[in-house]
Amino acid sequence: MKLHHIIEAQQFDMPTLLNLFEVTAQMEQAVAHGGVNDYHNRIMATLFYEPSTRTRFSFETAMHRLGGRVITTENAAQFSSAAKGETIEDTIRILNGYADVIVIRHSEVGAARRAAAVSRVPIINAGDGPGQHPTQALLDLYTIRKEIGAIDGLRIAMVGDLAQGRTVRSLAYLLSKFQGVKIYFVAPPPLKMKEDILEHLREHSIWYTEETDLEKVLPEVDVVYQTRIQKERFGDRIADYERCRGVYVLTREALRLMQPKAIVMHPLPRLDEIAQEVDQDPRAAYFRQAQNGLYVRMALLSMVLS
Ligand code: CP
Repeated sequence: MKLHHIIEAQQFDMPTLLNLFEVTAQMEQAVAHGGVNDYHNRIMATLFYEPSTRTRFSFETAMHRLGGRVITTENAAQFSSAAKGETIEDTIRILNGYADVIVIRHSEVGAARRAAAVSRVPIINAGDGPGQHPTQALLDLYTIRKEIGAIDGLRIAMVGDLAQGRTVRSLAYLLSKFQGVKIYFVAPPPLKMKEDILEHLREHSIWYTEETDLEKVLPEVDVVYQTRIQKERFGDRIADYERCRGVYVLTREALRLMQPKAIVMHPLPRLDEIAQEVDQDPRAAYFRQAQNGLYVRMALLSMVLS
């Protein structure tokens, strides 16, 4: 199945998701046997204007594991000609002459869409400010399916910075495509999930509730999706940040309230919202989740490059 630009989670329909899961499982097997070499003459450009560990390294590893090559810049905001005032559009027009696919992360909502509007080659949104992070949500979905066995009927708590977190927005869009899903949004009042997502869920008849008491929700769910309070998006509202940080911390004690087969996920990086002691619990799925990012991104690259 062919994909072109990957800009937002809503663009994925069920046949495409099922195909992606299938190709991802094949990629997982392929990596265990040394990778594949089908894309040796293809080049991926990574253009990251915001910091990243997982997304950038997993995309770059994915391209190498597919036999392709990578061109990149350290900190595109500082070391590409954006620093001299070049527009995203002009940068993309230039990279169209060099690369077969462009992966972009930017601080502005809509940056990937602007890039796609002028690009002949596929653009992949690796996070646009507090907008969306569709490939993260796809790897989250793959992880849930692999760990829990199914997505229909899932009960999930999304916890933390829901107002500024792009991963929870993209994941909510994807979950709205499944049957019988229940979403518990747990956030401090200033960081509640935005109304556009809640409206989308109502339109798709997805059950949701908004809570502030995490302990009440923990026994109810199959997945606790913890997120970081995003200090970098508070600007000069330091007092607001200080009020919100540390409100929801998953400790070994808190995990006692969870179901024995429930899992803890996190897009990472984490600060103090999951205590290090939780890492030893088999229900801590966040490092396995990050590993799945490699396989999902290999599958996505193969689908846009084929
Ligand atoms: N989950 C995620 O996007 O991590 P990075 O910011 O390290 O890419």
